[in-house]
Amino acid sequence: MADTPPVTAPRTDAVRHHDPRVRGFASDNYAGVHPEVLAAIALANGGHQVAYGEDDYTAHLQDVFRAHFGPRAEAFPVFNGTGANVVALQALTERWGAVVCAASAHIHVDEGGAPERMGGLKLLTVPTPDGKLTPDLIDREAWGFDDEHRAQPQVVSITQSTELGTCYTPEEIRAICDHAHERGLAVHLDGSRIANAAATLGVPLRAFTTDAGVDMLSFGGTKNGLLLGECVVVLNPERVRAMKHLRKLSMQLASKMRFVSVQFEALLAGDLWLRSAGHANAMARRLESAVRAVEGVTVVRPVQANAVFARLPREVSERLQKRYRFYFWDESTGEVRWMCSFDTTEEDVDSFAAALAEEMAVHSA
Ligand SMILES: Cc1ncc(COP(=O)(O)O)c(C=O)c1O
Repeated sequence: MADTPPVTAPRTDAVRHHDPRVRGFASDNYAGVHPEVLAAIALANGGHQVAYGEDDYTAHLQDVFRAHFGPRAEAFPVFNGTGANVVALQALTERWGAVVCAASAHIHVDEGGAPERMGGLKLLTVPTPDGKLTPDLIDREAWGFDDEHRAQPQVVSITQSTELGTCYTPEEIRAICDHAHERGLAVHLDGSRIANAAATLGVPLRAFTTDAGVDMLSFGGTKNGLLLGECVVVLNPERVRAMKHLRKLSMQLASKMRFVSVQFEALLAGDLWLRSAGHANAMARRLESAVRAVEGVTVVRPVQANAVFARLPREVSERLQKRYRFYFWDESTGEVRWMCSFDTTEEDVDSFAAALAEEMAVHSA
């Protein structure tokens, strides 16, 4: 029988198909992988490890998450954020259950109907001015308990930081959790950008999750420098059922899970999560002040994480889009969204603001 194959120098015939110097402001998902995360993936490579989460990396990851979220936390790595949300919400609801969320919530707007179609969940949406629910707003949909004609509100889902770039304070989340729990509802937090919120608030992750009463969390990694991967984190095991079955049933159980888990260890065992998110937020603040100085541009929402929302003449946006990637957030009003990520540089921001000023000058001439 042959011995282990010799380790040879890596060889690749692959060709690079993009210019790695080009960065835009479209999405934190456009960024690549943080080098420390890539190095960790390489570290986890080689040899054999038990598949489907029975590996040493996933076992160790539990300690890493418990250090942040307390001794009852249990992390379930998954592939993506939509999957994390759909698994988490199913684990908190019964077949007749419904989820109260902001009308701007990713689960409602940007998940292709996955919570409804894959999770079988009814979403009860509430319009908000800033992407944030409050106890009063929750009550607009949290009613009809025991009425067989109404899907039963069983969960409140909030997003931190929100889809509109705002952050809840720990006190605001505590008030939501108290209110929801008094009515028998559980609380789920979509933390696709949870690190950006912690960086802005300057508090530990558990201050606005475990300690505020959140029951279940979708913990985001991809937008903060992972290759891929999110974690469903159970914070209150008494509220949650059948996580391991629901993850598999929802097609979110990775066979080679060690490579997802080791990325989270690289992110969370030290301060990479906070460094990267803090940097992305700082770039957004730099961008905000640079674009505020350009006449004709209005920043339309508070910049509390890594997103800047602005209004400017449509034709200026369209010309600028030929130079930098970014999206219209609201086609009807011409509002655009500019996102920063862990690898956005000061030079990127300054060049973008200069390009914006140039295009605006052409428009005004
Ligand atoms: C608030 C929020 N939740 C969840 C997600 C995760 O989505 P995906 O399924 O693309 O990983 C995103 C990604 O844009 C998001 O912005």
